[in-house]
Amino acid sequence: MTINVFFLFQVLGAVLLIILGVTIVRWLWKYMWLSRQLQGPRLAERYGRGSWVLITGASDGLGKAFSQELAQYGFNLILVSRTQEKLRRLQAELERLGVQIRTVCVDLSDSAQHTYSSITEAAQDVDLSIVINCVGITVHRRYGDIPAATLRRLLSVNVNTTAIVTHTMLPLLLRHTMSTGRRCAFLNVGSIVGRFYWPGTQLYGACKAFIDHLTIPLAYEYRKQLDVLSFQPTVMATGMAAGTEPAAITISPQAAAHVALSHLGRYNSSHGHWRHAMLAVLFTLLPGSLRNRIFLSKALEMGEVESGKGI
Ligand SMILES: NC(=O)c1ccc[n+]([C@@H]2O[C@H](COP(=O)([O-])OP(=O)(O)OC[C@H]3O[C@@H](n4cnc5c(N)ncnc54)[C@H](OP(=O)(O)O)[C@@H]3O)[C@@H](O)[C@H]2O)c1
Repeated sequence: MTINVFFLFQVLGAVLLIILGVTIVRWLWKYMWLSRQLQGPRLAERYGRGSWVLITGASDGLGKAFSQELAQYGFNLILVSRTQEKLRRLQAELERLGVQIRTVCVDLSDSAQHTYSSITEAAQDVDLSIVINCVGITVHRRYGDIPAATLRRLLSVNVNTTAIVTHTMLPLLLRHTMSTGRRCAFLNVGSIVGRFYWPGTQLYGACKAFIDHLTIPLAYEYRKQLDVLSFQPTVMATGMAAGTEPAAITISPQAAAHVALSHLGRYNSSHGHWRHAMLAVLFTLLPGSLRNRIFLSKALEMGEVESGKGI
């Protein structure tokens, strides 16, 4: 029997085209379509209207945007962050929407046990259905130039806090599922930086890769009860990105929060906004050495801005 090589190439080409077409349609569905759908009724139905959401880093930026959107959907909230006055102001704003708000003012750069006990206390007697581990801080510097205190602070806020809060809140989330029959969820905020080697932002990137690797396996360990979303955005117009020139990839924290919530319960991982997802594709296609040179020079520029601010 002779094999017609030309025919084989045609079949292979057709299969590749179908795979490419399906990938593009799935990408468009995920990043362009879902976020345009109403999320409130779906989230309330899936996790329970009037159940509670705990959000770390809630007083500003992305965490605040999550709080505002979820309060509009009727979820009660436990807001965790460092500055009492900002928490109080946000609490007053959200209570006007008719939801209950608790605040926990705590410095998460101290990962001693007592730091987290106030968070557990606040969540103990409520029907907790979602936890958003949003708190995060960054530094841009060559590794040896990062002050030791900054290094410890980053590990504590980004790594220890996410690991400990996830561990202490998991039983409370599972309790919600047991008592209501509805699903519970972790939405853990990483960064695109955690998906690539990122010279000049290596410590933050390693912390964010940790969050990714902690989060996604939980979807399989607690498949019947728990949704997880490892959220990997790029630049958002928040305090953390202050000093970065607004660019085509800079989106508002409100837009980022909205897309992330549209992916919660549907995917285990997401870059959120379509522009950020597109950037991840571009970074993947760039040759590694070029990518690393660009990342380093941008990171060192941002490091200079941070140094100017005393970070
Ligand atoms: N912005 C970006 O471009 C970007 C890109 C990718 C990923 N992310 C990730 O998105 C998440 C949110 O970032 P963001 O841009 O919204 O940051 P942000 O605007 O700087 O807000 C940070 C929040 O975390 C709180 N916080 C900071 N340090 C704390 C500490 N030691 N103890 C307790 N709370 C503390 C802040 O509280 P106070 O207001 O009280 O200080 C604030 O509520 C982070 O995980 C970040 O890594 C951000």
